Amino acid sequence: MAEFQFIDVRKVQNACIITINREEKMNALNRHLLQEIKRAVEVAEKNDENHGIILTGKGGKAFAAGADIAEFADFDSKEGKAMSAEGHEVMNALEQCSKPTIAAINGYALGGGNELAMACHLRIASPNAVFGQPEVKLGLPPGYGGTQRLIQLVGKAKALELNMTGKNIQAEEAHHIGLVNAIVKQEDLMKYCLDIISTISKRSPMAIASIIRCTNAYFSEQDGHKTEIEEFGNSFQTDDFSEGTSAFLNKTKANFRKS
Ligand code: COA
Repeated sequence: MAEFQFIDVRKVQNACIITINREEKMNALNRHLLQEIKRAVEVAEKNDENHGIILTGKGGKAFAAGADIAEFADFDSKEGKAMSAEGHEVMNALEQCSKPTIAAINGYALGGGNELAMACHLRIASPNAVFGQPEVKLGLPPGYGGTQRLIQLVGKAKALELNMTGKNIQAEEAHHIGLVNAIVKQEDLMKYCLDIISTISKRSPMAIASIIRCTNAYFSEQDGHKTEIEEFGNSFQTDDFSEGTSAFLNKTKANFRKS
């Protein structure tokens, strides 16, 4: 039996590519599928051969068109809360991953799909990508972090506008408001994301993990400045620090991954 039912996981170059594989349902995210993503992220994070994770959707129409509406249509309040809490854990796993996570958004990123993309460290979209938080049309607020991470990325006014209207926006506007880092032709999307991972993988993995922790601290109850002072100080006792500084002083290139 295949390890995963709703996702494909493969290694390309030095990246782990996770593809949501429910094309016939616009890659809608049922709970089992989300748990599979979490498991795949945890495995990829531990594997030294993976220097980053790319998340995408199967086919050319959807990254993910949201949580699976058919699955939760009959839920009561208790089940709704459990669903949201589980979803938050999955999003947190992506956000707190010590390796870079990139959403390669190749179509609709609506509701939970947009929330999944926002939990990644970077978002690269194809020109046909469409973004939105339509939950308000279903009688719900966003439940996988959409009221929080949208503010972080686009500011309070735009986040409230998108969450309260439930309207869709095109890739160009998403880029303009800072929701996505870049727009790249669909056929070049994966190569572009792989190139980002390749660039980052030449930098210090210790420093990358540190940057992720410090950035997350800014949006948590921790004092981000204190976290940075700690992380900066701790870096001085790492091999990466010795490698990076001695390479600079010897006018050579740092090689942080010796294996
Ligand atoms: N949950 C469950 N099923 C979904 C889904 C979702 N979020 N999004 C799409 N699907 C299913 C459709 O029900 C349809 O299934 P069917 O063929 O068995 O009827 C299939 O995926 C194809 O979707 P369809 O609506 O026919 O495609 P479209 O091209 O006309 O429209 C969307 C695409 C994305 C605009 C539309 O599917 C949509 O609005 N989806 C819901 C978005 C949403 O509200 N997300 C937030 C959920 S909290």
